[in-house]
Amino acid sequence: MSIFERASDRRHLLGINGLKPHEIVDLLDRAENAVAVSRRPDKKNSVLKGRTQINLFFEASTRTQASFEIAGKRLGADVMNMSVANSSVKKGETLIDTAMTLNAMQPDILIVRHHSAGAVALLSQKVACSVVNAGDGQHEHPTQALLDALTIRRHKGPDFHQLTVVICGDVLHSRVARSNILLLNALGARVRVVAPSTLLPRGIEQMGVEIVHDMRAGLKDADVVMMLRLQRERMEGAFVPSVREYFRYFGLDAEKLRHARPDALVMHPGPMNRGVEIASDVADGPQSVIEEQVEMGVAVRMAVIESLIGWPGDNR
Ligand code: NCD
Repeated sequence: MSIFERASDRRHLLGINGLKPHEIVDLLDRAENAVAVSRRPDKKNSVLKGRTQINLFFEASTRTQASFEIAGKRLGADVMNMSVANSSVKKGETLIDTAMTLNAMQPDILIVRHHSAGAVALLSQKVACSVVNAGDGQHEHPTQALLDALTIRRHKGPDFHQLTVVICGDVLHSRVARSNILLLNALGARVRVVAPSTLLPRGIEQMGVEIVHDMRAGLKDADVVMMLRLQRERMEGAFVPSVREYFRYFGLDAEKLRHARPDALVMHPGPMNRGVEIASDVADGPQSVIEEQVEMGVAVRMAVIESLIGWPGDNR
């Protein structure tokens, strides 16, 4: 059963893993409509009038939480934010008890971010509503991969088979990289990862990617260069000798970018560490689509929420 299919009386988006290519394309098409809606002066519709969305974030987040909140509001839902700093989790309540408490308030959808891989899937089995994974540990971040794909499609067209996408940096700690590799492979793109071996997970070759350790060689023929944040908060011990050295070998600056195709897109999921994984002039330069990724994030989340709980006649 696909994760995205209706399981008994509820549907979830827990990861890209399990989505079929046509489901991905369908979400991107729906998101395209949401882009148009979001660019109108009146951005709000009433598809989700009367529905309740709860954003349950156990990990600090600014852009993802704001993006899900705006998405729910533009669809007409009532949106409530619960961040862990203000919750009973600090008082020792378990993940499942928190979920059960919120479940009793009859939400229609929970958007969940958690620092442990698998926690969101576990929670989805305990509640009666739809659940969206907004990032679980080092596992998956499906809406990020969808918004990246939408951004790429808008610039490079729908045929992903023609594209070489290079994902650079801290792949080891990155749920963004995992979800992107799954999605890009599903749509037929060629995926290459560029990183020092200390920042690559064991067995990554089995995910169907090419591995290159030298950035200039890795950028050759790239249509898209996706930079990842060096996730120092997830690192125990020394994964890189120093930030200066990391930037020298793996940071994207104008000189290294010249090894990619001249029309290559520069992407970053944010938050960026300028001068660590990306130089400021590249982040703000003509090839950068980093701000557009943020705009596409709202559209993709509108598409996901609407397709999970916004269908006509859905009166659970
Ligand atoms: C990413 C995340 O949280 O996984 N950021 C995000 O969703 N905006 C990537 C990151 O933290 O580096």
